[in-house]
Amino acid sequence: MNTYLVTGAAGFIGRSIAAELLARGKRVRGIDNFSTGKQENLVGLEAMDFIEADVNDAAAVTQACRGVDCIFHEAAIPSVPRSIEDPIGSNFAGVSGTVQLLTAAKDANVRRFVYAGSSSVYGNTPTMPKTEDMTPSPISPYAVTKLAGEVYLQCFTQVYGLETVTLRYFNVFGPNQDPTSHYSGVLAIFTLKMLAGETPTIYGDGEQSRDFTFIQNVVYGNLLASEAQAEKVSGKVFNLATGHRISLNQAVEILRTATGYNGEIRYAAERGGDVKHSLADISQARECLGYEPQVQFREGLERTVDWYKTIAKRGGSGAGSAQ
Ligand code: UD1
Repeated sequence: MNTYLVTGAAGFIGRSIAAELLARGKRVRGIDNFSTGKQENLVGLEAMDFIEADVNDAAAVTQACRGVDCIFHEAAIPSVPRSIEDPIGSNFAGVSGTVQLLTAAKDANVRRFVYAGSSSVYGNTPTMPKTEDMTPSPISPYAVTKLAGEVYLQCFTQVYGLETVTLRYFNVFGPNQDPTSHYSGVLAIFTLKMLAGETPTIYGDGEQSRDFTFIQNVVYGNLLASEAQAEKVSGKVFNLATGHRISLNQAVEILRTATGYNGEIRYAAERGGDVKHSLADISQARECLGYEPQVQFREGLERTVDWYKTIAKRGGSGAGSAQ
């Protein structure tokens, strides 16, 4: 049976991919250094062969790649503001870690390498929706690391013949996303606050918009990317999103209904490195991967709120993130 390796397996997206692979009866190996991932995210993934290590640890990744058919590379230090505070750390995890893993993957004859790219590479370019052939224009260190990673993938396809696919995720949200850090995704933060009756803070006027993508769509896109014909996908980049955008103010209104919060919303200064609008054209993913969003925004958000309610009842705060 094929073995799949998931990096960042104790993070939000990594654990969600690993869970789906296990549910499909696959053999899964996971690696995480718990820098932002959480031990509690491994609950339910006991069948996974887990290695606690950094993706920059050459010996550990060599061991992790042994006998692997496909890698889902989710490990990174997420967050635009965190990368502005610590560009070197962001680069080490995101760029050096990716090169280390790519090298181990080609040495181990891994068939395919699927990479967590990011919509942040488009920056503030005015054209909407974003198509993959647009010139990237990163405006944060995080976005630079994500762009460097995808260029490295293409280089490894060209030079070593490794099959690679980059999926540019657009603001992923859903169950298991860590809501407890100020670096967390906005919907996770707002859901937790509103359920607790605390005031959320919007940075800027709230009219910034995102193509918020429910986690199930991202997991689905990854599985398609691992299986698609190499001629259609290898060395290529795909937007992974819904093709719809929603402003933060609109999202807050939906969250009010879902959480029952009727308190104030605080507005503060816009955040440095912030992109104003983000919307994906997903026609390439449709055509080459056979991708179609499975869950739309509102349903995804309601499911997310329900999950946080259940966790709160159990006395937890939510889990780890490695977006
Ligand atoms: C960016 C990327 C996303 C990537 C993520 C990794 C873009 C368009 N998106 O997300 O693909 O996965 O980095 O971390 O570049 N905000 C508030 N209040 C809060 C927190 C956030 O108003 O308490 C605002 C932010 O200023 C921003 C929006 O909400 O305008 C979304 O922020 P966040 O969830 O952190 O994601 P991005 O930085 O957009």
